[in-house]
Amino acid sequence: MKTIISPSILGGSFSNMEKTISELDKSKADYIHFDVMDGDFVPNLTFGPQFISDLRSKTKKVFDVHLMIHRVGDFLEDYVNAGSNIITFHYEINENLNEIISKIKRNSIKAGIAIKPKTTLDEVRKYLHTVDQIIIMTVEPGFGGQSFLSDQINKIKDISNYIKENNLNVDIEIDGGINYETGKLCVESGANILVAGSFLFEQSDLTKATDKLNDFFN
Ligand code: DX5
Ligand code: ZN
Repeated sequence: MKTIISPSILGGSFSNMEKTISELDKSKADYIHFDVMDGDFVPNLTFGPQFISDLRSKTKKVFDVHLMIHRVGDFLEDYVNAGSNIITFHYEINENLNEIISKIKRNSIKAGIAIKPKTTLDEVRKYLHTVDQIIIMTVEPGFGGQSFLSDQINKIKDISNYIKENNLNVDIEIDGGINYETGKLCVESGANILVAGSFLFEQSDLTKATDKLNDFFN
């Protein structure tokens, strides 16, 4: 199975995001990961739907939008209209998750659910029967450049086994602290999508760094 790379633009400079997107557009990455943060669900604030819609016409890559926000229901339509291809919200929000999932899917967009490191398979299990993707956080959400939490590996394995045993068609995306070494651990445990931020942006050539990561896994 192909390993999809989803570079997180959180590592880029917001003052020149068009340049970042054009460098990623030239790369072999299939996805671009947008970390939306509201300063409430996580202690950091990034950007909103307008930022995403302004970048939509610059590339045909899959917009993999990761909502680390509360009030998903109130803002969902804005992210749909901004041109998202996948919208992932967090299990830990206090909203009707089934309603959000069906609203996303009604717009022929892929629905994802994300879980923080402390959230278990048992808590999220039932949603795996309706979502297209699960994001397993391997850092506490809110910031790039954190170290990979290796105690999440067993959870990746358990979720991968559950998906296989139940014949579910759900992608497993890992988000946080990904490099060659940690990414390999995740793919060996059943993941098929890797988000990478600082590991790519700390290298001098973003397109080359992304292609090297893609080629390492495929
Ligand atoms: C963290 C974000 C991640 C992060 C990944 O809350 O969801 O996508 O930007 O960045 P790195 O790869 O630097 O951990
Ligand atoms: Zn993310």
